[in-house]
Order: sequence, then C-alpha cells, then structure tokens
Amino acid sequence: MTSQTTSPLTSLAPIGENSPGAEWWRTAVIYQVYPRSFADASGDGIGDLRGVTAHLSDLQELGVDAVWLSPFYRSPQHDAGYDVADYCDVDPLFGTLADFDEMLAAAHARGIRIIVDLVPNHSSDQHVWFREALAAAPGSAARARYLFRDGRGEGGDLPPNNWESVFGGPAWTRTTNPDDTPGQWYLHLFDSTQPDFDWSNPEVQEQFRGILRFWLDRGVDGFRVDVAHGLIKTDGLPDHVPAVDGDSMGGHDEAPYWAQDGVHEIYRDWHRVLAEYDGDRALCAEAWLPTVDRTAEWVRPDEMHQAFNFPYLMTEWDAPAIREVIAESLRAFPAVGAPATWVLSNHDVVRHASRLALTAENPQGHGIGPDSPGQPIPEVGLRRARAATTVMLALPGSAYLYQGEELGLPEVIDLPGDARQDPTWFRTDGERYGRDGCRVPIPWTADAPAYGFSPGGESWLPQPAEWATLARDVQEQDPESTLWLYRTLLATRRAEGLGAGRLEWTLGYGDDVIAFRTSTGSVTEGVTVIANISDAPIELPHGTVLAASEAFDGAHLPVDVAVWMHAG
Ligand code: NOJ
Repeated sequence: MTSQTTSPLTSLAPIGENSPGAEWWRTAVIYQVYPRSFADASGDGIGDLRGVTAHLSDLQELGVDAVWLSPFYRSPQHDAGYDVADYCDVDPLFGTLADFDEMLAAAHARGIRIIVDLVPNHSSDQHVWFREALAAAPGSAARARYLFRDGRGEGGDLPPNNWESVFGGPAWTRTTNPDDTPGQWYLHLFDSTQPDFDWSNPEVQEQFRGILRFWLDRGVDGFRVDVAHGLIKTDGLPDHVPAVDGDSMGGHDEAPYWAQDGVHEIYRDWHRVLAEYDGDRALCAEAWLPTVDRTAEWVRPDEMHQAFNFPYLMTEWDAPAIREVIAESLRAFPAVGAPATWVLSNHDVVRHASRLALTAENPQGHGIGPDSPGQPIPEVGLRRARAATTVMLALPGSAYLYQGEELGLPEVIDLPGDARQDPTWFRTDGERYGRDGCRVPIPWTADAPAYGFSPGGESWLPQPAEWATLARDVQEQDPESTLWLYRTLLATRRAEGLGAGRLEWTLGYGDDVIAFRTSTGSVTEGVTVIANISDAPIELPHGTVLAASEAFDGAHLPVDVAVWMHAG
C-alpha cells in the first residue's frame, strides 16, 4: 500500500505563481470547436458555423471562457480545412461571413471570447497564389512566394533534398511544365496539396499582416497559430540528418525546418499588430517541441501570449513524470512572463480517455486502429481521463479543452478504412491510422438521428453505436456523468480563482500520488488537490470534498481518482 500521512507537509518553496496581469488569456479555459464535427445546422453531415451558434448556450452552461475554432475558411478540405484557399472567406460548407459575424456577436453577448485558427506555414494548392506560381516560370516572382526548387540528379529527377512530409512520404512534389515535361519541385511539409510559403519573402509577410487585420477588425479575440515552429527553413534547404529515429512533428526539433531562430521575428511583428487593437487580443503557438523550456521561447514578452504545452499532453499516466512537467511548466513559462498552459486532447492526438490507457507506444499523429498494439481498456481510460482533467483544471494558468472530452468520448478505434479521411492514412498506405478517430462528430441527443449532430442523420464519419449512452442529454440527467464533472470543476475553478493561483506541493504521500495546494492569496485559503496514481487506495486528510473525478467514500481515495478539497 502506498505510504501516506494524515498531516501532510507543505513544501517550503512555493513554485508557480502565475504572472501578474489581468489579461483574460492568462487564466482562461478555452474550448476547441472542430467545426466539421461539432454541430451541423445545414443537414449535410458536416458541422457548420450556425451549428456553433446554436450551441453557444451549452458552452456557456459548461462554463468555458473562450472558444478556439479550427479552420472554417475556403478550402478543398484535403486536410480538413488546414489547406486554406482563401484566408478571408468562409467555406460554403461552414456557412458565410455573415454566419461568422452572427456567431461572434452571439458568443460575445454570452461573455465567450473567440479565437480563430491561422495557418501561415502553407496554403492550399488551390490558393490563387499557388495557381499563379504553377502557371509562372521558374525564377518568377509568383514562384518566389513558395519554395520551388530544381530537382537533384540527372534531369532533376530526384527531390531537392531528403525531407519527409509529417504525414508520410516525401515532402516534395514535382510539377509539370506547360509542354508536359517534368518541371521544378515544390516543398510541402504536410500533404502535397499544402505547399509551404517562403517566409523570407516580404510579400508573404505582408499578406499575413493583412489576414490578421481582417479578422481582428471583425472582432476576434486572438489566433491559434498552426505549425508556429515551422515557417522558417534553414538557408539552402540542406538534407535533414536526424539525430534520433522517428523524427516528426511530435518529436524532436533538430530538423532544418523546425524551430529556426528567424521564426521569432515573425511573431514579434504580429505581436505589434495585435497590440494596436484593444481588448487583449492573443496569439497561441502550436509548436511541437520536445521540452517545456523550448516551448517557452515562443512566449517571450514581445512574442506570442500562449503556447500549447505539448510536453504536458505527451506525459504518461505516471505521478513523478506529471509532477515534473508541472513543475517545469510553472518555472519556465512564468520566467518569461507568460502563463503556463495545459492541454490533454485536441484534433491531432488520440483522445485522452483512450490514450491514458494505451499499453504500447503510440507516436503522435499515428492514431490507433483495430490492429494497433496496446489497445486501451475503455473503463480504465475514462477513469484516468477524468482524474487527469481534475488535476489539470486546478493548475495555475490557462487550460484548453477539446470538444467531446466533457462527454468522456473515447477515440473511435474501429472506423472502417473506407471512411477514413486523414491524409496520413492515404500517404502511408494505411500503415498509420491517423487522426480521424478523435474527429468523429459528437453526440448531443441519444434518440435523435446522428445523435443530434445533424438533422438528417448524416455524419461525415460514422458514429459508434455505444455513443448513445454518452450523448449529452443522457449525461445531463446523471449527476455522476463526465459532463457534470466538467461543469463542477469549471464552476469551482472560477469560484476559487484557481487559474490565477499559485501551487505548493504537498509532501508526505507516496511517490505515486500527486498532491498540491493551490491558492490565490485573496479568494480563499486554497484548494487541496490529490490524485492517486498508485495501486491501492490512500487515506485522505479531513476536510470538505469540493469535487472528485469519481464518487467515493470521502475518506479513502481510490486508485486513478483525483479530488479537490478544502482540507483541515
Ligand atoms: C497542425 C494541425 O493541428 C493539423 O490538424 C494539421 O494537419 C497540420 N498542422 C497541418 O496544417
């Protein structure tokens, strides 16, 4: 049995005071809406902006401060909208600019801020600039907006370097000249339909200043910046000589296209653009970097305001490892004046209700399918996910939630191959399942067609039969449900001012227990948080339970359960 003490000590050196400052993004809980899978008002089986507007009251009831919307711009949808053909228009699949304005106004009226997704590393191959580039000659100004190069070898038959696409296969595609002879190659770190911009080109820089202003003028509260570590490539585009096998977006940062110094200048420029606007507009970096310290470089005082804490997301269900990444985060982000951020799920990773119970390694972006090793036991995964979220929402800083996690949705593992749409699946010939399993449209109403996702019963990915029991209306009726857990945590977090608090470790429990006290110094004397990741129940101190990831007797905390208390 794990050792415990009835009078735990508090560590002498408090860590992790969230930086002072009243900006909303320092403490906000931000809910990611993946528009195509959230709610479909038009009935075509793909979610849309009017669907978002219709459910804002549900998000308000849940208790979130802001919404981050994944892309809804004009796009041929080869990478679910991360292939943008027009950055300043709404794709007809998702509605119109008027629908966007209506959604934004309705969200603001409810006190919910809106962050939109900005995709600056690459456009769609249907973007007017890329079409012009293909029609133009090598060496032209039109081609200089992207990364076109001659091939290597005889006749230029080999790609210009050895870079690989994050989605699998080569990162270069060869063009065809107007006379049908093979032409130059262009770089795409992702799908071949997503050509990379050349960010050393002032025209590209100016275009994105204009895009920022377009959405800022409409009233958005900020941007989540896609592939924020990838925009600048090493001069000369040298071969990538990996230091470690398996290099990818989720792994290491030594590649000549990740985390190059010049990228920070871009964000200093954007910081100045946002600073011209009122209302504390914010930038959040999506930068997959191996450590918290590297991630914190994106949020130095004159750069972005937040960066996703992917080292936290990638941490296994292991108490010492979780304590370590929390401690590092609460040192590294405040050291540069930024809030720590916390995230457990998004549209690119295996949902944490499944991931935390995987028993075999699963690299980010590979996904899981019926043949994957280390299949999760659903009950174990859900229990751990609820406990993990209970820990996360107590931490000082800002937290991101991904739609459906408040319902405890698992990854959908058994999607049929012919339903899968992630380019990763196609580019690896099915070797990697990809990310469709976390993108299945969410269930609102157990008895309605497509569980209330779409009025005609359509759904762009099939929804599992078991999701009837997870539908939101069913969980509404059940005080023990995951939905009620999230509501309770969010309301208590707000009442206790936890996002702005500081954290002190509580010593005296075993190594396999996470225990800390948070306090703001102003609202209350603090909340004690204990998560039991050992293999036996632990005895709790006396006190009042404010929230728990599972019902328990109030005295003995079961395995894989977390609690918030007013102790003593
Ligand atoms: C990161 C996005 O989150 C992911 O969904 C997308 O496929 C890549 N960037 C490429 O834009």
